Amino acid sequence: RRTAQEALTRLTVDVPDWPEEGVTFKDITPVLADHHAFSAIITALAAAGRDDHGNVVVDKVVGMEARGFILAAPVALALGIGFVPVRKAGKLPREAHAVSYALEYGEATLEVHRDGIAAGERVLMVDDVLATGGTVDATRRLIQACGGVATGASVLMELSFLEPRTVTGDLPISTLLTI
Ligand code: PRP
Ligand code: MG
Repeated sequence: RRTAQEALTRLTVDVPDWPEEGVTFKDITPVLADHHAFSAIITALAAAGRDDHGNVVVDKVVGMEARGFILAAPVALALGIGFVPVRKAGKLPREAHAVSYALEYGEATLEVHRDGIAAGERVLMVDDVLATGGTVDATRRLIQACGGVATGASVLMELSFLEPRTVTGDLPISTLLTI
């Protein structure tokens, strides 16, 4: 975990005023491009799916399109369990649950296949950034719509100044870095 935090801090590039003025974008692509760093952050993210003895305590890993996919799929492989994509509206070919949530301007909709998660399955969410908390909260509701149990979320960075936990409530969320 220390190695992962160190790699994340060292290799993440702050891009000022992107995608708009006043916003600093956290570019993690250099972390992904470094095998040791990538491997360390995946191991650290996956720890949220294990108990104190290292036993896997979740049944599925959900990743949120798009950046969540990059992290969630290898976390699922590391835990030896399946991966389920949560996609932006209109991308999934079969029957899906949909949840809409408010953005700074407008609204976004996320979807998951109805049969992507079975009733009672325990699900870990994985994403890159926890900002307003809207994405994690919408995904939690999608998991619940399937009858699954959202056990928590594992993210690389939490932008605490946006107060995401006022939105995500008592859901356990582990983060490698708090900004
Ligand atoms: C970004 C980020 C998180 C989300 C966090 O995704 O990857 O998924 O915002 O913000 P929130 O906590 O306020 O919901 P975004 O939808 O911008 O784009 P992406 O497709 O590149 O992941
Ligand atoms: Mg995203």
